[in-house]
Amino acid sequence: MSAQTAPLLEVDGLRVDFASRAGLVQAINEVSLVVHKGETLGLVGESGSGKSVSAQAVMGLISPPGAITGGDVRWCGTSLLGRKGERYARSVRGKNIAMIFQDPMTSLNPLMTVGDQIGEAMRYHLGFTHVQARRRAEELLGAVGLSAPARRLDQYPHELSGGMRQRVMIAMAISCEPELLIADEPTTALDVTIQAQILELLARLQKELGLAIILITHDLGVVAGICNRVAVMYAGRIVETGDVDTIFEDPGHPYTQGLLRSTPSLEGTEDTLMSIDGIPPRLIDPQPGCPFLPRCPIGVDACRQAPPAEAWKGSAVRCWKAGADAWSMGATRAQEAGL
Ligand SMILES: Nc1ncnc2c1ncn2[C@@H]1O[C@H](COP(=O)(O)OP(=O)(O)OP(=O)(O)O)[C@@H](O)[C@H]1O
Ligand SMILES: [Mg+2]
Repeated sequence: MSAQTAPLLEVDGLRVDFASRAGLVQAINEVSLVVHKGETLGLVGESGSGKSVSAQAVMGLISPPGAITGGDVRWCGTSLLGRKGERYARSVRGKNIAMIFQDPMTSLNPLMTVGDQIGEAMRYHLGFTHVQARRRAEELLGAVGLSAPARRLDQYPHELSGGMRQRVMIAMAISCEPELLIADEPTTALDVTIQAQILELLARLQKELGLAIILITHDLGVVAGICNRVAVMYAGRIVETGDVDTIFEDPGHPYTQGLLRSTPSLEGTEDTLMSIDGIPPRLIDPQPGCPFLPRCPIGVDACRQAPPAEAWKGSAVRCWKAGADAWSMGATRAQEAGL
């Protein structure tokens, strides 16, 4: 994915706020990322860090009390936002960009057969007749590994297992041959064996169809398995982005370093597993400065002002102490202080 190729998707300084009784929740704050043709970007971070809201904003799924309050989302260089982007966005979303959700039961219509649901987008976006859509739906069910696809067409979602429903969602998502697939925790509701099968399926489809994928997950093991690049989110911001290999070998941000040290499966170092003490900050009235500061073992005065600006390309780390071995230094610092 050369940096020269124009990106498919550009999210540029995006902000999403939710109005709540307690105040304005700044769910995502100046989020920027790019996705190039054919690459898999892992979006990782703790619960509540803004992964799903970022995806929903790209898909146009933010509705009151939420609103996009700043920044831009561009597809092949053209904005999807605002009244000007509305028509373009309608033609792009569901066709060029498709999304699969964590829990297929809440996103499949329980009253529609599998065949009709898969066919719907093809009838809308591609002008397929009912018969054409049904024939293609059967092929797609076969392509995502469902047995007896012809019989599945007339079944309802409740007649299928969780893994089968997730395959149906994937068939639906790829029905209009999207260039970008956003998969929001596509395997968390599934048991481990089925999880592995679904990830394999995504990797295969990506190769065969030349798809770009944004894979949202809190599992760094999954990222290591199938992603080229990773963006790490914390408290509504991206704190580090870069190649998977670089970030796994040499994470720059103390939060990324902590996440890696608390992931058991990667290096088999269960005996040295750590957890990051503390909790993420409130997203209402966030303090200026780095949101990770209260949990960071190596914070300095500058971190109270503002984190460094996010760079656009290559590895970018929003930390004044980027690259320092935070958790070893933090332990030494605590020892010296007699803690
Ligand atoms: N409908 C909503 N109303 C109010 N606040 C919301 C709403 N949806 C999301 N938020 C806020 O946005 C923040 C980010 O939520 P988001 O769902 O993107 O987190 P996430 O990273 O996907 O977490 P998870 O791993 O649990 O799925 C949450 O902390 C929440 O405060
Ligand atoms: Mg989520």
